[in-house]
Amino acid sequence: MINIANSYDSAIARELFSAGEIAAAIERLATAIAQDHSRQPLTLVGVLKGALYVAADLARAISVVPDGPSDISVDYICVSSYGNAARSSGEVRLLKDLGDPVSGRNVVIVEDIVDNGLTLQYLHDLLGRRNPASLSSCVLLDKPYRRQTDVRIDYRGLVAPDTFIVGYGLDYQEKFRSLPYLAKLRSRAFEDQGTGQIG
Ligand code: IMP
Ligand code: MG
Repeated sequence: MINIANSYDSAIARELFSAGEIAAAIERLATAIAQDHSRQPLTLVGVLKGALYVAADLARAISVVPDGPSDISVDYICVSSYGNAARSSGEVRLLKDLGDPVSGRNVVIVEDIVDNGLTLQYLHDLLGRRNPASLSSCVLLDKPYRRQTDVRIDYRGLVAPDTFIVGYGLDYQEKFRSLPYLAKLRSRAFEDQGTGQIG
C-alpha cells in the first residue's frame, strides 16, 4: 500500500502544527464564531482550494456548540493568487463564484492562511458589495510578516512562522494538501521553483 505521507517525507523539513493542534484551534474558532452568531443563520464561505478542510471542519465544530447558529450553510468561492509559487503577487483572480447569494446573510469568510492580506481584502470588498447582514473573516493561520493591507481578521487560529507551509489544504504546486498536519517544506523543494500558481 502506498503511504502518501511517507513518500513526501524527504520534502518535509518538520511538522509545525500536529493534527491535534489544528483540531484544538478549529474548536476555539468554532466556539467564538458560534457565540457571536448565537440563534442566527450563518453562512461560511470557504476559499478554495486551501480552505477546503478548514471550512468543512469548522462547520461541523460550530454545529455542536450549544446555543450556536440557528442554521449553518457552507459555500465555496475559488480564487487564485499568482506569484513565484512561494509567494503570492497580490493579483487575485476569481475562478469560481459562490453558488448562492449572500444578501441578508451573516457571512464569515474562511481562509486557510493570510500572508500579504490581498486575497482576503479582495474577498472582503467583493462580498461586502453584496449586502450581507454581517461580514467577518476567520483564518486558520496568520503570517503577519509581509502584510500589505490592514484587512480585518475577526477570528484567528494560529500564528504561523515566516516560512512556506503545506498540509491541511495548503499546497506547494498542488502537492501536500491532503496531509493531516501542517509542515514546513525543506528549502531544497523550492530549488526548481518557476512561475507557478498558489491558492
Ligand atoms: P495572501 O498573500 O494573503 O494574499 O495569501 C494568498 C494565498 O496564498 C492564501 O490564501 C494561500 O492559499 C496562499 N498562501 C500564502 N502563504 C502560503 C503558505 O505558506 N503555504 C501555502 N499557501 C500559502
Ligand atoms: Mg487560500
